[in-house]
Amino acid sequence: MAEIDIDLRAAINAVSDVVQNRPRPLREFDQIYMKTADMVLQSEFVARWADGQRLAFIGDGDAISICVAYLHHREILPYGPSEIVVFDFDQRICNAVERFADKERLETLGSCLYNVLDAFPESGAFDRFYTNPPWGASNDGESVKVFMQRGMEATGYTGQGMVVVADDPNLDWPKRVLARLQGAALDAGFFVQRMPTHVHSYHLDDNPDLRSCNVIVNALSGEGQTVKSEAIRDADRLAHFYGRNLIPHVRYVREKPRLDYGKANQSEYEFELLEESR
Ligand SMILES: C[S@@+](CC[C@H](N)C(=O)[O-])C[C@H]1O[C@@H](n2cnc3c(N)ncnc32)[C@H](O)[C@@H]1O
Repeated sequence: MAEIDIDLRAAINAVSDVVQNRPRPLREFDQIYMKTADMVLQSEFVARWADGQRLAFIGDGDAISICVAYLHHREILPYGPSEIVVFDFDQRICNAVERFADKERLETLGSCLYNVLDAFPESGAFDRFYTNPPWGASNDGESVKVFMQRGMEATGYTGQGMVVVADDPNLDWPKRVLARLQGAALDAGFFVQRMPTHVHSYHLDDNPDLRSCNVIVNALSGEGQTVKSEAIRDADRLAHFYGRNLIPHVRYVREKPRLDYGKANQSEYEFELLEESR
């Protein structure tokens, strides 16, 4: 890894601001958040990789998009993308992006409510894509392929993408998923350029040691492809999408408006009063 000369305290505190703004994860849609130290390192890595580029995030519960834009805006990192758009089907995540961008005046950052099962709305509008998809343990990586396909469409099948997937030498399924990801990348006209292994860990109760890697794919040709983006409704591609027997059945997760965002919800606690206060 290249030597990084940044103010680590400022970077961690900035990422802490972002973590504070993240909605709680919905496990049924494979929202499992990256741990904070790994977010700092991942954000630096992504900011450097996508410096000056238009970057599309295909899903981003982790909020790496916000960290990258914020660290650059605060000049904690001297590099970062020229534009970032988060495409996610969870309105809470899109709103968290918009809320943070608005509060901190992050002019390069925006979001779009979008389900990967639908045709991609902005084909070819980006130079790079990033995705940390459902990891496809029960469908040999088909869900990874769906998210990666949308990323490739975002770049018009040019440029580069970063796909974050499980990476564990002691398990068989991550190897099968990595092999299928690499096969699909080749079929789509991309090759795997780099793959830093075992770099992130997650708040995952049933497997806290499971790590992931960054697979960086690069288009073989700068010409791109004019492939029309289409909806995906093929039952074979959607089986076990979010885990065994969990097929997609939700188009969008809608946010219920709350006035106390970022603070404890009143349904979570009650006060037991001091004697003299009763
Ligand atoms: C599937 S999770 C993977 C784990 C990752 N660490 C996270 O929690 O962000 C990644 C993102 O994909 C989004 N997502 C899940 N299903 C989607 C869908 N059908 N269309 C668009 N985004 C989706 C989730 O809301 C989440 O933000």
